[in-house]
Amino acid sequence: MNKDDVVKARVQQLHDEINQHNQNYYQYDTPQIPDADYDALMRELQTLELAQPALISDDSPTQRVGSAPLDSFNQVEHQIPMLSLDNAFNEAEFEAFNKRVQGKIEMTDEVEYLVEPKLDGLAVSLLYQGGVLVQAATRGDGKTGENVTENVRTISAIPLTLKGINLPTALEVRGEIFMPLAGFEKLNKQAIEADEKPFANPRNAAAGSLRQLDSKITATRPLAFYAYGIGVVEDFVLPKTQKKLFGLLAGWGLPVSNQVLVARGPAQCHKAYDALANKRPLLPYEIDGVVYKVNNFELQEKIGFVSRAPRWAIARKFPAQEKMTEVVGIDVQVGRTGAITPVARLSPVFVGGVTVTNVTLHNEDEMRRKDVRVGDTVIVRRAGDVIPEIVSVVMDKRCDDCVPFLMPTTCPVCGSAVERAEGEAIIRCPAGLFCRAQVKESIKHFASRKAMDVDGLGDKIVEQLVVSGLVKTPADLYRLTKERVSSLERMADKSANNLLLALDASKQTTLPKFLYALGVREVGEVTANSLAMYFGRLDALQGATLENLEKVPDVGPIVAQHIVAFFELQHNRDVITELLAAGVHWPDVSAVSHKNKALSDKVFVLTGTLSSMGRDQAKEILQSLGAKVTGSVSKKTDYVVAGEESGSKLKKALSLDVMVLSEEEFLNMAKDYQG
Ligand code: IVH
Repeated sequence: MNKDDVVKARVQQLHDEINQHNQNYYQYDTPQIPDADYDALMRELQTLELAQPALISDDSPTQRVGSAPLDSFNQVEHQIPMLSLDNAFNEAEFEAFNKRVQGKIEMTDEVEYLVEPKLDGLAVSLLYQGGVLVQAATRGDGKTGENVTENVRTISAIPLTLKGINLPTALEVRGEIFMPLAGFEKLNKQAIEADEKPFANPRNAAAGSLRQLDSKITATRPLAFYAYGIGVVEDFVLPKTQKKLFGLLAGWGLPVSNQVLVARGPAQCHKAYDALANKRPLLPYEIDGVVYKVNNFELQEKIGFVSRAPRWAIARKFPAQEKMTEVVGIDVQVGRTGAITPVARLSPVFVGGVTVTNVTLHNEDEMRRKDVRVGDTVIVRRAGDVIPEIVSVVMDKRCDDCVPFLMPTTCPVCGSAVERAEGEAIIRCPAGLFCRAQVKESIKHFASRKAMDVDGLGDKIVEQLVVSGLVKTPADLYRLTKERVSSLERMADKSANNLLLALDASKQTTLPKFLYALGVREVGEVTANSLAMYFGRLDALQGATLENLEKVPDVGPIVAQHIVAFFELQHNRDVITELLAAGVHWPDVSAVSHKNKALSDKVFVLTGTLSSMGRDQAKEILQSLGAKVTGSVSKKTDYVVAGEESGSKLKKALSLDVMVLSEEEFLNMAKDYQG
């Protein structure tokens, strides 16, 4: 061997060794060498590659550092939809599921299930071609996800090449990316030290880390992965069971959970659930339940799926966790729309995987009902990713001298007298943008990721901009100058520059994002999108009447009123004019031409179960044809599409003489019109 060959061989050996250590660490949880030795191997490889860059291959362990930032993620269509799971919340619900399974496969014997932990992260699809990782995508809406290949390539737990010789030509591995607890705590500690907002829980941290446009950031995040299924497979005979699939995946070097077991029938399944629930606090990562999957693939196929979820699998979630703690204060917060919300400040308590220090008490009625007082001991509950809540006050521990909390009669920020609209539980500060709290919140909303997406305009900066009087409306953001921004506390020159660049970049937006950014009450992302699709142009929307607005899918009378009221205010119109003058722009949206749409303005109601698709999908089809889909049958309804087991809505349709379509008739109609 000449010298070059020796180096080449050593590089290959280092690849193998490092990959093996990654596998030991992530898959078997049994590191065989100290971290320092692992680092030494990596350094040796880096040194060799530095001397001879030709030796750097795409799958080298040194290449997991991330690449140039992207402008946005491309979309990936899932060839096979990525389904979700139905939930069972107790033994009886699991037993009912098991009965349905037995019914489908006409079997009275105990069914065999694989019991897996339900990992609390986010689902991804990894595509290996010829054993090489070529694409990674998030689940997205199940049909289309985001291409996160660059980011996934930085996760050491995920092999860049599969081991073994007998590999499928194409293999789509599905599994969960998650953040182990230790890494999560470390990351949050760093965030707090850097005065940044910590992540609420490991799942958000995992999702936030994976969805970074700059993969170099993802590379620094402690992400892990477990495979639990497959999608596309080409040229390969699969094993017969889910359990054996786990073995196969592990053999290819993919990490799989070591907490899976086969259980026959409900009794064993319940036992497996209890065992995992007991183990949960000891696991180094978060799980939020167990997943039962019919073990045999042939049976899975027989049982099939409904649009959203397989019928051969179910998740049984762990119940919410509850802990006791003390209320150290009650504050009131003023939101973007003036809503005044009482918030209990708690002695920090670790519950359901997060440390909780604040809990919203929602509104006055809720406060009275629970009668939470400063000094009380309360039970805090957190279930899954649901926001924590106070369940009740521990009355035995009620202090003698604590008094009921009274909601303020004036806005704590601007002093305006608060109002409570009839039939509403919420009290509001009516001062709108004359109230600094509302300005602050609306600027935060305007700049947020789903709105104008101004990178680097964090809460603290907004706070300073508003308090200093530099920013009173969103349009003021675009008038900021370098000197003004640099005058803010802890704003280095570079950060000031970056913020101005980000503001400039945000001017190029889309109509839906702009509409959402305006912060019209009740206009969320989905409604903003529908409005943009329907009207196509901002001026058309600004001039829309209530009647017009109500024709837009998901706009009801209340939302329509909020929209009209928003555009009636001169102040809002001025801000919009200023934003456009500052250069905010978007590509034209070709408005859906309703007049030409086949089902323009026809009102549909969907009821019962459709066998070929979910109701959401049917709704989308109808809306794309210009129809309006509502929830209840009235004289105004033109058609009712009745699936299996249609109940009262079908009866009502018949009594009102509304045209009823079977699923088949509906599909034919859609096909005709879709052309
Ligand atoms: S199977 C075929 N297995 O739970 C059905 N999902 O609620 C789809 N998840 O989107 C997935 N652990 O993000 C499966 N062992 C496991 C899982 C698991 C966690 C997540 C996954 C999925 C969600 C559905």
